[in-house]
Amino acid sequence: MARLFQALFLTASATRVFASCAYGTHLMPRAEEGEVPISTFGYTGSIGPLNWAALATPDNNACATGTRQSPIDMVDSVFEVIPASSVTFEVNDMPDGAEFENLGSTVEVITQGGRLVLDNKEFALQQFHFHLPSEHLDNGTSQAMEMHMVHQSEAGEIAVVGVYINIATEAAAAAPAKRSLGSRSRLFGRQEAAAPVTGAPTTLLETIFGVVDQISVPGTKVKTPPLVMSEVVNLVKAGNFQAYSGSLTTPPCSEGVNWRVSTAKLAVSPASFTKVRDVIGFNARFPQNAPGEPNILMVSALGSAAAAVSVAGTAA
Ligand SMILES: *[C@@H]1O[C@H](CO)[C@@H](O)[C@H](O)[C@H]1NC(C)=O
Ligand SMILES: [Zn+2]
Repeated sequence: MARLFQALFLTASATRVFASCAYGTHLMPRAEEGEVPISTFGYTGSIGPLNWAALATPDNNACATGTRQSPIDMVDSVFEVIPASSVTFEVNDMPDGAEFENLGSTVEVITQGGRLVLDNKEFALQQFHFHLPSEHLDNGTSQAMEMHMVHQSEAGEIAVVGVYINIATEAAAAAPAKRSLGSRSRLFGRQEAAAPVTGAPTTLLETIFGVVDQISVPGTKVKTPPLVMSEVVNLVKAGNFQAYSGSLTTPPCSEGVNWRVSTAKLAVSPASFTKVRDVIGFNARFPQNAPGEPNILMVSALGSAAAAVSVAGTAA
């Protein structure tokens, strides 16, 4: 395992592609103070996920050949369930605000400490960023957004806590406090009870996305207002982690990433969602095959080769 990570380190540090999922880790060291690098990969056309491997060969090869790629559809058989309350997961508040950057491929908050302990191994929080819509599918269903909290161990191993974000319903958005289902149905009657229920907007997200329009241009940054992290940490700790070993969802698609996808869901008000959507646009890699199965891009390459052989056979 140690060798694998050393190899990852050597391979990935050679690449010039800025990977949002790994930015600020050893795979993509943070740029000089004051600079916000702009990603050279994207989500459509010639720089999109189908061509990531070709953008930097061999650094990005795993994007096209890896067999434990992320994101995936989080169906029962692919993950292990771990109560988050049993996991050490801490995030420092940022009372003076935090740096919030537009990397072109995502918008990212540079954190100021936090830790995740997995199997007695300590991972330090580096940053969190957002995907729109969600990259993982929640048992077959895409969510409005997904937050990735990226951690790194001393040995350079990566662990990412993924948290889905949904759009708060009008009723929930109007009420700052959490309401039980019971009081909701009493208040709104049968008709409303059938509507999808999401929580009130998450204060952390409202605070961050409140200034996202100030970094609408890739390569720009802004200081957020003070950030209190306990709300999100407490929500996550009240749920479970769906654990599996996958990859970065951005180039160089390095594997050996410890994924912990939370069953807790955050919520964003419709107004904030619109704001962040207008800045991010679309930045989700397509769902990959289940861990251990051939890479989708290999399947298609083999498929075309097989088709070519069969056509040739027919012709002969
Ligand atoms: C996922 O969906 C299937 C049906 O599509 C259902 O049987 C299963 O219980 C669901 N799993 C979870 C964790 O909700
Ligand atoms: Zn990510």
